[in-house]
Amino acid sequence: MKSMPQSVTDDTVVTGPIDSPWVRAQFPALSQTVHGQPAVFLDGPGGTQVPQRVIDAISDYLRTSNANTDGVFATSQRSDTMLAAARVAMADFLACDPEEIIFGANMTSLTFAISRSIGRELTPGDEIVVTRLDHGANYSPWVALEERGITIRVAEINDHDCTLDMSDLERKITSRTKLVAVGYASNAVGTINNVREVVRMAHRVGAMAYIDAVHYAPHGPIDVRALDCDFLVCSSYKFFGPHMGILYGKHRHLTTLQPYQVAANTHAVPLNWEWGTLNHEGIAGITACVDYLADLGRHIDPSASARRIALLTAWKAIQKHEQTLVQTLISGLLQIPGLKLYGITDPERFGERCPTVAVRIAGHTPLHLATELGRRGFFTWDGNYYALNLTEHLDVEKDGGFLRIGLAHYNTAEEVDRCLAALREIAQ
Ligand SMILES: Cc1ncc(COP(=O)(O)O)c(C=O)c1O
Repeated sequence: MKSMPQSVTDDTVVTGPIDSPWVRAQFPALSQTVHGQPAVFLDGPGGTQVPQRVIDAISDYLRTSNANTDGVFATSQRSDTMLAAARVAMADFLACDPEEIIFGANMTSLTFAISRSIGRELTPGDEIVVTRLDHGANYSPWVALEERGITIRVAEINDHDCTLDMSDLERKITSRTKLVAVGYASNAVGTINNVREVVRMAHRVGAMAYIDAVHYAPHGPIDVRALDCDFLVCSSYKFFGPHMGILYGKHRHLTTLQPYQVAANTHAVPLNWEWGTLNHEGIAGITACVDYLADLGRHIDPSASARRIALLTAWKAIQKHEQTLVQTLISGLLQIPGLKLYGITDPERFGERCPTVAVRIAGHTPLHLATELGRRGFFTWDGNYYALNLTEHLDVEKDGGFLRIGLAHYNTAEEVDRCLAALREIAQ
């Protein structure tokens, strides 16, 4: 099974507005209430809700196909077919070949595993560049290689808007650099990095580029071929699917690097990079969540039949919808007395941010704000969300980090208005 031709680009698709009632009808969790108030899910950066078809795919797999792989009987063969189909779905999602897709428990464990395999090829004095902006899962696995004599360099941020300091990054990438690990977008402050440029900088010195797309994946299209990155990781529970991780690796790396593996395991790529028995029902859910997004695209433009084109159609609509919502959210937040917003606030630059907003309000801890919002039915996060380097650098860690409000395409303008009203009331 092959994925879509790679020539399809974002520019070739047309789109229309998000049909919010249609979208919300897909997600049964959205109709919950808290103390009689409708629940408002603003916790997407920690994990999104799933459409009914994901729930169905998981339970259908367990009902009809539950078995280990490679057997000579019906349920095992159905499991093999299901796994192959999920690889094709993720290949359409990321614009790569199915053989370049590896499934795992989550992004963190996939990154620890691949970093160990990359580490065994390095020698003392080699360097890896990471960033101050990243989640710990794209930091600690690389720092762990210090025990092998690898030097870690940390690229800094521009404090005023929480963007990556690209000049500092460029300075820190040298002829000794073997890998640059960078996030596609910050899960704390929402900044979208110029990943294509980071990949170019890494390749200029012959280093590999490892991209953490966990936060970006629910907000926009990913094209690993266009990025030319060497690896990219994401987690389906952040893009409307089950709790799992997915890694893309360039075929030549997956073939030349050596995985740590059990002797009896196959040496065939990509299966040799998948450890033990996987969460099959979760993988069945991954196909369903990719198909949900594709059907969202087809709902907007019925002529978008091929899955990659339908996905691009959906992403365009999602980006437009989320940008409208985040504009209302940020302009409303900035009017709250004592509120400080960390990250990009200029509407002209909202293309450089996800609708993930980090704030503090003088006189209130983030925990207090999140608790009060939670009581009113608004689900938000407080703390550092593992972006510990950032919260320490901005000196907010000791005071509880940030309150994080994260929008997804299933949120509405009415929910944003109600959240702003609740926050104004709490902040008084
Ligand atoms: C940007 C980012 N990277 C990595 C991770 C870790 O992902 P996982 O939970 O799949 O290990 C997260 C989780 O919140 C994240 O937001």
